[in-house]
Amino acid sequence: MLNNQAGEEKRASLHGHWSSKMTFILAVTGSAVGLGNIWKFPYVAGQNGGGAFVLVYLICVVVIGMPVMMSEILIGRRGRRNPVAAMELLSKEEGSSRHWRWVGVIGVFAGILILSYYSVIAGWTLGYAVKSASGVFVGASAEAVSAEYQNFVSDWRITGFCHTLFMALTIFFVARGVERGLEQAVRFMVPALLILMLALLGYSINSGYFAQGLSFMFSVPESCMALAPECPLTWDSVLAALGQAFFTLSIGMGCIMAYGAYLPDETSITSTSSAVVIADTGIAILAGLTIFPLVFANGLDPADGPGLVFQTLPLAFGQMAGGIFFSTIFFILLSFAAWTSAIALIEPAVAWVVERFSKTRAQASLLIGILIWFIGFGSVLSFNALANMEFLAGTIFDNVNYLTDKIMLPLAGLLIILFAGWVMSRNSTADELGSTGRLYNFWRLLARFIAPIGILFVLANAIT
Ligand code: PHE
Repeated sequence: MLNNQAGEEKRASLHGHWSSKMTFILAVTGSAVGLGNIWKFPYVAGQNGGGAFVLVYLICVVVIGMPVMMSEILIGRRGRRNPVAAMELLSKEEGSSRHWRWVGVIGVFAGILILSYYSVIAGWTLGYAVKSASGVFVGASAEAVSAEYQNFVSDWRITGFCHTLFMALTIFFVARGVERGLEQAVRFMVPALLILMLALLGYSINSGYFAQGLSFMFSVPESCMALAPECPLTWDSVLAALGQAFFTLSIGMGCIMAYGAYLPDETSITSTSSAVVIADTGIAILAGLTIFPLVFANGLDPADGPGLVFQTLPLAFGQMAGGIFFSTIFFILLSFAAWTSAIALIEPAVAWVVERFSKTRAQASLLIGILIWFIGFGSVLSFNALANMEFLAGTIFDNVNYLTDKIMLPLAGLLIILFAGWVMSRNSTADELGSTGRLYNFWRLLARFIAPIGILFVLANAIT
């Protein structure tokens, strides 16, 4: 992104620009596609009962996620600063309160908190790459794979080491300004991951339980379709679906805003956002379609929680010809996917420290990285030594999840879309979105009314 030949921009970014529209799409896709799609979506959908949750999640992605993403990109590009400074600058330009910068601050902290546990799970995937290579999963039974998982997460020294390794890799590349490497990584990783996912899907289709998996994911109880009180979906699950939509699209924390700051003026925000939303949602659905049939075929519990992927996919690989090879490659690719997301998670904080405290990129990455690494041990220990220390939403890991997914992301998302819809003038947003036609009016309708009311409605109902 540090390419300074940015065409005829109105305001220059302090960090340079993406070299092309494709780089931006790839970087945003890299941030969106990650553990959220393959690890989190299936387990959260499983915990919240499947079908009805998935439907609400899809609605949230389209009706709320897409307009928030567009708003983030347009604010970032117009502000050309880190999220905190961009919000401050634009609110001044639009004649509004400078307190809007707090939205950026929430984002910076949400990124730090999310990465603290994200890195732990990414560490698990690194550990699983090594495990796969050792051949432990070949022909293993469901019990053996589950026992392997339990043993693994209960040893904090190993998972702590994996977390440290992942954070170190992230800090190292972020400090050096990784963006060119990022482009190559995403270009290769997303298609490769997709091919392996399709191979696994083939395995699931043949498991004899595909129909059951499909129905778990997509059949919505009639009571829910009729919005009757008997519908088993709780408001907390609806909030979980909204939170998952934010998380998986990387929105509501300023990271897309930070990336938008490096976007050349002529790129279409609408088409870029659509491409990213479609790719991201497609991969999540694919992961669900692969994992749930395996869950049912092996008598596992879909509501099993964060270990779901680690207890299902190795089973499929274990049965496959060349399973050792494919399984190892799969977990390496998943670590890559997590790594391109980790870089996005840390970017708002790093950009903010660089600009606000005049630090170099290297110093800022190291500082923030060490802080995140330290907080991350709360999540490492949530699966072993501190597993029984439960308060509010559960373990430390559960609480960080709850706070970020269900409070910080929806709240910052709400403020971002209110800012784009109400504070920014029609002229400014139309200028960025490059249109005043029907599509623009539709975005504005979503941004001013439908999305904010939707978010508020879900938050209010879930909290009371
Ligand atoms: N969207 C990423 C994923 O699904 C996680 C993420 C959230 C990345 C927020 C950046 C910002 O894995």
